[in-house]
Amino acid sequence: MNKPAHLDMAAWEPTPNNLEAFFMGFTPNAAFKKRPRLIARAKDMHYYDMKGRALIDASAGLWCSNAGHCRQPIIQAIQKQAAELDFAPTFQYGHPKIFELASRLAMLAPGNLDYAFFTNSGSEAGDTALKIALAFHRSRGEASRTRMIGRERGYHGVGFGGISVGGIVKNRMFFGPLINGVDHLPHTHSLEHNAYTQGQPEWGAHLADELERIAALHDPSTIAAVIVEPVAGSTGVLIPPKGYLKRLREICDKHGFLLIFDEVITGFGRLGTGFGSEYFDVEPDMITCAKGLTNGVIPMGAVICRKGMYDAFTDWADETGNTIELFHGYTYSGHPVAAAAGLATLEVYKEERLFERATDLAPYWQAAVHGLKGTRHVIDLRNLGLIAGIELESRPGKPGQRAYEAFRRCFDKGVLIRVTGDIIALSPPLIIEKTEIDRIFETLHDVLTNLD
Ligand SMILES: Cc1ncc(COP(=O)(O)O)c(C=O)c1O
Repeated sequence: MNKPAHLDMAAWEPTPNNLEAFFMGFTPNAAFKKRPRLIARAKDMHYYDMKGRALIDASAGLWCSNAGHCRQPIIQAIQKQAAELDFAPTFQYGHPKIFELASRLAMLAPGNLDYAFFTNSGSEAGDTALKIALAFHRSRGEASRTRMIGRERGYHGVGFGGISVGGIVKNRMFFGPLINGVDHLPHTHSLEHNAYTQGQPEWGAHLADELERIAALHDPSTIAAVIVEPVAGSTGVLIPPKGYLKRLREICDKHGFLLIFDEVITGFGRLGTGFGSEYFDVEPDMITCAKGLTNGVIPMGAVICRKGMYDAFTDWADETGNTIELFHGYTYSGHPVAAAAGLATLEVYKEERLFERATDLAPYWQAAVHGLKGTRHVIDLRNLGLIAGIELESRPGKPGQRAYEAFRRCFDKGVLIRVTGDIIALSPPLIIEKTEIDRIFETLHDVLTNLD
């Protein structure tokens, strides 16, 4: 046998300029490693590359940094927490900050969504919500309810549950048969009916009625839950048609399906409200969230569920009080440092009134987005809150290539955007100034005008 690697002291030496060993996800590894975009630091609205060049962040990292980057109150909170209590389990133990964060989330969430289960990511929150749905029905004696209904072009992370209910072909096709008993609603995106809509489109509420068709096909007694993003982000900013989400709620109520809103991107002020469900005035049975929960500083996600659901679990438990209600959880569920980051983040949102700020800026943002109308290659513009989708005509036979090139050129010009297929998705930190909005759209106009 060869000498174990750890006994070779050279193995412990850092190799700072070797990009090879990191197997990057959702990235063309070879192309990236040939021409890397390395980010060295960040502050407020900007990233800085290795040479100190500033990049304005038009996508809050990955829909994460709603309060901007490297905010002092959050940094101080996590430093203090790490020195005070670095880790404590939340199985059979607890620590005060995680209970405090759960209470704060329950206050922020609409209606009687009063109980928070913690995860480490949006993906884990998605899979957790699906498992809670199954266990909930079973605990009430409706074990036949096992089917999950997702939606085409939906994204609920990368766990097996999430990719099964999700509707992104590439995220599904490599990974076998996925979980059984899943069906999908049609997506609501239609350039034919809704191109260049400002805010929510008029056309498309009737697409929610497809849930009736799916219910009839499988029989409602087999369906556990319906999961959708109120605004689908990852597949290119698909804004729900007016009345669509309400209609889904009505059909779920009629048949006893749980409605799960994946609010990983619509949570924490993106639409000017704590959660998108408040913005759309539709109360789901569960909300999944992550990202803006800790401003992206420490990984954390959560499932917030309705009081009646929690009660069903505790009612089911036996009278000794020793029954474990839910056989699920992660070592890092409710990690103390993430809890401290979450509490400090909510405090920043509150103190700086960032959700109201998003509402105030939304009309200016909308005007800036639609100011791109007529720009070369643009075939649709859409917006809601501080979100924008800019859809480009694809190059024949080369989908995604044009937007990817726009992405690279924007980076070269000091603007960090996000692209998915041939759609540019924008979601800046809520601290953005109007002059910075102008700068982003001027750069985009310039880049698109000069792009083949
Ligand atoms: C709507 C939605 N759900 C789930 C996820 C997955 O979150 P994570 O990457 O933290 O697992 C994302 C990530 O972008 C998302 O946008």
